[in-house]
Amino acid sequence: MYGDDIASVLITEQQINEKIRELAKQVSDDYPERGDRDDLVLVGVLKGAVMFMTDLARALSVPVQMEFMAVSSYGSATSSSGVVRILKDLDRDVAGRHVLIVEDIIDSGLTLSWLLKNLQSRNPASLEVCTLLRKPDAVKVEVPVRYVGFEIPNEFVVGYGLDFAERYRDLPYIGTLAPEVYST
Ligand code: PRP
Ligand code: MN
Ligand code: MG
Repeated sequence: MYGDDIASVLITEQQINEKIRELAKQVSDDYPERGDRDDLVLVGVLKGAVMFMTDLARALSVPVQMEFMAVSSYGSATSSSGVVRILKDLDRDVAGRHVLIVEDIIDSGLTLSWLLKNLQSRNPASLEVCTLLRKPDAVKVEVPVRYVGFEIPNEFVVGYGLDFAERYRDLPYIGTLAPEVYST
């Protein structure tokens, strides 16, 4: 699929799977089942987090409710400005709820830093972050992240939800994009 666009496989489907199982164990241990309407609320950030969110939810051994937000950074496509606009908000109020933001990747940290402030202002009982990938080299803003799957080098990665110009999200693994693809 996608011809020679993928330069190398960085994280295989099996490695993603194993990591999700580890993360799910930690999350399930940290959020005991409360019963009634006090389920953990997973907030997935569209669209990148979709694959991770659905796989994580199915690997957890505690019940969760699923919410989604879609946000978009103002400004150029290449450098995030930190100014974020809500394209789709949560369907429900999260006041008093335990909320776990689910992200595919933290790059500069600007999206998440804005999102944390925004969700915190809605007075959840607790607010934490679970990200599959983090690029330590690229962090401009320090954001507290409770669960991190993989620390990856500062390369352009796609697959398993991550896109380049909306393509490659459907790959079941995470790969590096051949430079010819984004330099032309
Ligand atoms: C990507 C990614 C994260 C964010 C990380 O989303 O899915 O949400 O960028 O970047 P940052 O740490 O520098 O803010 P994108 O805005 O490309 O939207 P998408 O999820 O729909 O691809
Ligand atoms: Mn995203
Ligand atoms: Mg994207």
